Amino acid sequence: MIDASHLAALRLVEEDRFVATHPRSADLAEQARGPLLAGVPMPWMTRWPGRFPVFFESASGARLLDVDGVEYVDLCLGDTGAMTGHALPQVTAAIAERAGRGITTMLPSADAIWVGQELARRFGLPTWQLAMSATDANRFVLRFARHLTGRPRIAVMDWCYHGTVDETLAVLDGDRVVARPGALGPQVDVAETTAVVPFNDLDALDRRLAVGDVACLLMEPALTNIGIVLPEAGYLEGVREVTRRHGVLLVIDETHTLCAGPGGATAAWGLDPDIVVVGKPIGGGIPCAAYGLSAEVAERLSGPMLGHEIDVAGVGGTLTGNALALAAIRATLSTCLRDEDFAVAIPLAERFADGVAGVIAEHGLPWHVQRLGCRAEYWFCPPPSDGAAAAAAVDEELEGFLHLWCLNRGVLLTPFHNMALFSPHHTEADVDRHTEVFGEAVSALTSGT
Ligand SMILES: Cc1ncc(COP(=O)(O)O)c(C=O)c1O
Repeated sequence: MIDASHLAALRLVEEDRFVATHPRSADLAEQARGPLLAGVPMPWMTRWPGRFPVFFESASGARLLDVDGVEYVDLCLGDTGAMTGHALPQVTAAIAERAGRGITTMLPSADAIWVGQELARRFGLPTWQLAMSATDANRFVLRFARHLTGRPRIAVMDWCYHGTVDETLAVLDGDRVVARPGALGPQVDVAETTAVVPFNDLDALDRRLAVGDVACLLMEPALTNIGIVLPEAGYLEGVREVTRRHGVLLVIDETHTLCAGPGGATAAWGLDPDIVVVGKPIGGGIPCAAYGLSAEVAERLSGPMLGHEIDVAGVGGTLTGNALALAAIRATLSTCLRDEDFAVAIPLAERFADGVAGVIAEHGLPWHVQRLGCRAEYWFCPPPSDGAAAAAAVDEELEGFLHLWCLNRGVLLTPFHNMALFSPHHTEADVDRHTEVFGEAVSALTSGT
């Protein structure tokens, strides 16, 4: 439907425009090539569109300013890490205040109690632990699950993403479990560690768990990392019934689905997991994550947690649970990601979805836009019901072009897929700016075909 050579020609124009408007970033990117692998401090930063990454100067609320003085409406929000909005004064003040009194001691600070209580109130699980990142939290949780059940495998959804957790970088190839395309130097043979099932397929889940070797099912309640794939009616209730029947712990990873509300999809949809993982925005940008345990799981784990060798148990980290992270979570959760914040952010995401749907309809494209809470995402296919269908519709060229087009017009989208996230700091004008820019891009794409 979109002519490839026309797309390539448009892309070249956008690349030139990007280079011309970002001379300072170009200069810094050149300097970064020597001391930094691939010229960036973290691999994914190479995924931004344009010949080099934009170097950022500052970010505040829903705005980001780069080193060339270009201002953006930030719909990426640090791929959820800044879902609260950037540099919130109350969080900044709490971080500064805590930093002035010491950050890392291996001792608990009083904020930990407030944080545990607040997470329990939001997600309904009574007992909590901290981690440095959602990846870390997931790794610890998988270990706990194996310990508690004595079973060797974990189960995940096909085309899931749960961070850089070795066993989860797995997909289905027919009936076989294989390393996810792109996984570098697989550390484990996922065919031996992992069971993979398609999302929204209860029969497949039931058949696989019946084998009896799976300790836990780690899943997002809606897939968010291959576009948004929503659960079909009754699916999540079915997952709970099947996991329970097979003695498999259900771990719900709410790192992204926190966009559904203050207690994520767990609270919004009344889920009943054994373990919940949250990360990214809960510390207002300070690296931290947490995992919550049901009373039963907590009870069964409390013995091992008090053991003399817990320091080498494979769970935790020297700086984990530090006072800075706890102060940041307290300041964030007491003032952000609350009902009143979602009451602003979710209608903005609805407005975004309506705007994008309007452009798609106007041009008669077979695309769709999906939304979950304050997160919305457009996709180049009809709504997929599982990860493989979503993955099959990925069009890197088209995606990269749209991202660059938007970036060149002051709108930042997440470098992976076509996700836009809304905070209470965005405005309707921000949303409409995206709709306008997206509409122009689609007109440019379709006018040459
Ligand atoms: C659902 C989910 N879980 C865990 C993670 C890992 O988060 P982090 O990279 O902060 O460790 C991600 C990252 O995108 C994620 O989407």
